[in-house]
Amino acid sequence: MEKVNHPQILAETAYVKKADMTQATLDGIGNTPLLNLTKIAEKECPGVQILAKAEWYNAGGSVKARPALNMVREGIKNGLLKKGMTILDSTSGNTGVAYAMIGKVLGFDVELVMPKNVCGARKQLMSSAYDAKVVYSDPLEGSDGSIIVCRDMYNKTPEKYFWPDQYNNDANWQAHYKTTAPEIWEQTGGKVTHFLAGIGTSGTIMGVSRRLVEYNSRIKTLAVEPEESLHGIEGLKHMASSIVPGIYKESDLSGKISVKTEEAYNMVMRLHDEENILVGTSSGAAVAAAVKLGKTLNEGVVVTILPDSCECDITHGEFHCDK
Ligand SMILES: Cc1ncc(COP(=O)(O)O)c(C=O)c1O
Repeated sequence: MEKVNHPQILAETAYVKKADMTQATLDGIGNTPLLNLTKIAEKECPGVQILAKAEWYNAGGSVKARPALNMVREGIKNGLLKKGMTILDSTSGNTGVAYAMIGKVLGFDVELVMPKNVCGARKQLMSSAYDAKVVYSDPLEGSDGSIIVCRDMYNKTPEKYFWPDQYNNDANWQAHYKTTAPEIWEQTGGKVTHFLAGIGTSGTIMGVSRRLVEYNSRIKTLAVEPEESLHGIEGLKHMASSIVPGIYKESDLSGKISVKTEEAYNMVMRLHDEENILVGTSSGAAVAAAVKLGKTLNEGVVVTILPDSCECDITHGEFHCDK
């Protein structure tokens, strides 16, 4: 199992990959390292291993490279995405970067709808580096506001667009079924006992869960969601107060764990200070949930996902995400 001690340098590696606009870049998406969070696990839940996929290694810098590529490839295969058409979707940022990168490599224009308050660095990447057109929705309406604006744009000129609609597209969760889950199974030598992931579109949790329980039906799978409806965990949805993604099937999971924004932010700082990794707030939420779960177990191999790194400012014990 790979252990990484210099995350800042590795995060830059992902950015270097982004500049390499070749088909090989797309083929190289996936096969991310599995990090062993030994310091936090030993302190919080001795006897339990907490392992986490470092998804910022993907070209595009996040977990969303996997579903974005699969949805675009399926669109081409099914004849829904043809030469001259524009890829359109709503995104909290990471899927947008992935679509923009993929569009650039494959020769498609890309238009993205996102809340105005997504991370500044991501907005820059999409529009400046990858030439995507960005349309902003009301930040107070979050990801649901972007979904509505995107649907309106598509309905006005459906012939112009390929709208993967990541919230309702089976190719989203299937990307994780085909790639993320087999990687976890192999990287843990089949020892994984629990899997947790945050719910945004729910593609990660649904796809990985479905495949892992096929390998071993005793594996428990848990969705991580923000405890508050108004929260600061970028990329995640509070289901009770949100448009529920069509691909989300709660009955296929073992359960859910709620995390407060403050717990997620505190864990981002602990990951930085104790494990030497710099990640976004949804990664903090995932590890905070893994620790909550770990405290209820005597032993186990708990695996989770670190969806992205973040351009954060961690100073004087406080955490500020770059907006
Ligand atoms: C930072 C971040 N974390 C977590 C997620 C959730 O992943 P999924 O959409 O597979 O549920 C997303 C999705 O956009 C994200 O951008």
